Amino acid sequence: MIEKGSKIQPAEGKLGILLVGLGAVSTTFIAGVEAIKKNHAKPIGSLTQMGRIRLGKRTEKRNPLIKEFAPLARLEDLVFGAWDIFPDSAYEAAVKAQVLKKEDLDVVRKELEAIRPWKAVFDRNYVKNLDGSNVKTGKNKMDLANQVIADIENFKKQNNLARMVMIWCGSTEVYLQPQEVHKTIANFEKGLENSDPKIAPSMIYAYAALKSKISFCNGAPNLTVDVPAIQELALQNNCAISGKDFKTGQTLLKTILAPGFKARMLGIDGWFSANILGNRDGEVLDDPDSFKTKEESKLSVLDTILQPELYPDLYGNMYHKVRIHYYPPRGDNKEGWDNIDITGWLGYPMQIKVDFLCRDSILAAPLVLDLVLFTDLAQRAGMKGIQEWLSFYYKSPMTAAGLYAEHNLFIQEMKLKNTLRYLMGEEQITHLGLDYYE
Ligand SMILES: NC(=O)c1ccc[n+]([C@@H]2O[C@H](COP(=O)([O-])OP(=O)(O)OC[C@H]3O[C@@H](n4cnc5c(N)ncnc54)[C@H](O)[C@@H]3O)[C@@H](O)[C@H]2O)c1
Repeated sequence: MIEKGSKIQPAEGKLGILLVGLGAVSTTFIAGVEAIKKNHAKPIGSLTQMGRIRLGKRTEKRNPLIKEFAPLARLEDLVFGAWDIFPDSAYEAAVKAQVLKKEDLDVVRKELEAIRPWKAVFDRNYVKNLDGSNVKTGKNKMDLANQVIADIENFKKQNNLARMVMIWCGSTEVYLQPQEVHKTIANFEKGLENSDPKIAPSMIYAYAALKSKISFCNGAPNLTVDVPAIQELALQNNCAISGKDFKTGQTLLKTILAPGFKARMLGIDGWFSANILGNRDGEVLDDPDSFKTKEESKLSVLDTILQPELYPDLYGNMYHKVRIHYYPPRGDNKEGWDNIDITGWLGYPMQIKVDFLCRDSILAAPLVLDLVLFTDLAQRAGMKGIQEWLSFYYKSPMTAAGLYAEHNLFIQEMKLKNTLRYLMGEEQITHLGLDYYE
């Protein structure tokens, strides 16, 4: 464990952001950062840019901005690189994604046009509803990993980068469970040489990143870094890893609402969640195997927040269902309905209806920014392996073996801020506060 207030390497030089997938989320993220740098927009939704952190007692009135408290990389120092199975520039991809308006894209058109994706490592068996031409070929999966490593090295040289972070913003892969080949680094490397079908493309990118001593974040629900071989490699090479599946939209609301019901000991009989969305992500999730990966990620949230085993009278018989429907007319502007059947005093039933007309990539883009900046900080602070303090950003947070994941957004926020206080040598805030009354 690193020590409280131990030395953090300064954020000097350029930070390369390696994006796997240059679709709706990635292009909205890049366009946003470039627009913010030009003072065209504000970084709303980003804790690193807009958030403050309380330090010391309430009477001290110390509430610095997080980006001034912790030594984070500056937006001016970010350089973007990406892989995608389509050869479109970031500008063309952003136009196709139809998230941002033309007048907003025009402001950053030059910067977006300069980003052309490298050829991707892709296998249709893992994403059935997509096919593209910008794809690497190689003699085996190890060869593909080495090609990704070469892309990273060239990117670093060409842009004179001091550090890099990789983040998966690619499509959701089909459901995969850990196998023998994922158990040890030796098994995994043998699997790469033999092109083992159980090694997904996302794992090849993660392997390439960690081999290059670059930390990795997983924005999709794919298994990717959730296997012992990759976790061992992260520890061996002093890299930070985190995942999985950005917590936006409906799941964000669930992890805001459910802790509140539980805090007041209100029962829940059922929670039915339906979504319609029409972007490429929705098209990929129309395949039942990719949906299964997403479903697993979305379902676990309520169980761990509500703990039905400890509260059988309140949550023992709760029926939880999640549905996603591909509906092209809506594009990226997803609609998520929740019907929540709750019970109160003496078991009297009540209903809550939530209709969230959200924008998927608008919610996800600031998470990408925060994750890459905090991951870079973690790496400079010497934090390696699973970064549970970044659970705040994920639907299925990774934890040490044997630990259940903490899904409650408010506990996640406290954990994140206390980690920052700890890293910077400040006292943890417990909210006890009895000393104010002495
Ligand atoms: N937007 C959200 O709110 C949100 C929330 C949680 C998770 N996610 C996940 O984030 C990911 C990105 O979402 P999006 O809306 O940008 O999707 P998208 O379909 O617009 O973009 C994904 C891109 O990844 C590319 N891709 C697929 N496989 C690849 C590979 N092997 N290598 C390189 N590129 C590859 C696709 O061609 C596509 O351009 C998805 O997995 C999605 O499930 C999004």
